[in-house]
Amino acid sequence: PRTVYVSRHGQSQYNVCQKIGGNPGLTASGERFARWLGSWVPAHIWPAKNETGRSVTDFEELDADDEALDPHTARPLFGRVFSVDDTPVIIRPARLWTSTLKRTIDTARHIPHPVLELRGGGGVWHQMLPRVYRNLDELFAGDYEGMTYKEIEANFGGESILRKRDKLGYRYPRGESYLDLIARLDPLMHELESYAEPLLIVSHQATLRILYAYLVGIPRAEAPKIEIPLHTIIKIEWDGWQSFNETRFHFD
Ligand code: F6P
Repeated sequence: PRTVYVSRHGQSQYNVCQKIGGNPGLTASGERFARWLGSWVPAHIWPAKNETGRSVTDFEELDADDEALDPHTARPLFGRVFSVDDTPVIIRPARLWTSTLKRTIDTARHIPHPVLELRGGGGVWHQMLPRVYRNLDELFAGDYEGMTYKEIEANFGGESILRKRDKLGYRYPRGESYLDLIARLDPLMHELESYAEPLLIVSHQATLRILYAYLVGIPRAEAPKIEIPLHTIIKIEWDGWQSFNETRFHFD
């Protein structure tokens, strides 16, 4: 897409006690951010209704063998077919990605799922459906999952030094490095580049550092140091090549 929105999950139980990794839920503050996102997205990214004033919930889903469907023209390769005033309409999933972890799924769960846009004289609508990708999970800290940085430093001081020396290449014992993260995000970047629709990605600090660095052209060695604050949506408009424009939206 030309426009990518990225956000970390809302504040998690682990964020407040500075533990890394794990699969914690949201705090009350994180939940407030999730609710805000639920109204911010329809207002800024995809409207809950399109210009005809209809939302996807007004539609009736047709069976694949419904006689209203011309088998050659109306039946989509992908997506589901709905009927609006007896006209078959193809609903394609639009673009919301989360990781498989509870904190991103919970952050995205108030975002309504209806129609993005009406195209080509009424033929194709986009429905916002979340996709859950393991590739977007947070950097896996292996043996140190659920620990604080202080605990790691106190118990495995040598490891903390190694990580400080080479944050990009350092791999947590039985876990991942930023280089591993780059490798697992690579297929997703190819998919991202193939979309025309705006895309919202709700993910994590380390994954979004890589993604952001890629989109705005920051070298990989710098990526692990990029600040990706909580409760902030970063909008990146991008020409698919070099130039980009960035806007940040903060929730307090
Ligand atoms: O602290 C939140 C967190 O998302 C951890 O789960 C993760 O290990 C960390 O950020 C990544 O940041 P850094 O690479 O700076 O430790």
